[in-house]
Amino acid sequence: MNPSLQTTAKSEILFTVNGDARTVLAHPMERLLDVLRNDLKLTGTKEGCSEGECGSCSVLLDGMLVNSCLVPVAQANGANVVTIEGMSAHALMAPLQEAFLECGGAQCGICTPGMILAAAHLLDKKPEPAIADIREGLSGNLCRCTGYMQIFEAVAKAARRKVAA
Ligand code: FES
Ligand code: FES
Repeated sequence: MNPSLQTTAKSEILFTVNGDARTVLAHPMERLLDVLRNDLKLTGTKEGCSEGECGSCSVLLDGMLVNSCLVPVAQANGANVVTIEGMSAHALMAPLQEAFLECGGAQCGICTPGMILAAAHLLDKKPEPAIADIREGLSGNLCRCTGYMQIFEAVAKAARRKVAA
């Protein structure tokens, strides 16, 4: 933990995480990423760059895609947080997971939860995206393994399947 946090008192944070009311005792400036992973054991959210550049730590905060490494947990007080674990029943999860596997869109997997969350967020708003929309929708998510084309194709494939279903 950041040593400067040890000088601040902990507060109760009450929020909804993946549909469940949760309460944690945390330093207000503690990163939402750490509270999710360490306190709530939701380790599907990954840490890549730690500085808001890679999107590996993406979660939905009141419906907005955010980098949880940049969000002080106090900002999540009273909010609705959805992590990759909370997406398991989402109608887009099966098509996205299948398409990522088929297209080779997941390799080391560090970026994958964030990519899938960003893709689902995009397809919820735009069910039939152009490739430019997919590029833009995933522009905050970096991948060091795939070269991106497999990921873009996977998202396009999942969108086609979902629309046809
Ligand atoms: S770990 Fe949060 S953006 Fe990279
Ligand atoms: S699959 Fe390794 S960073 Fe994307």
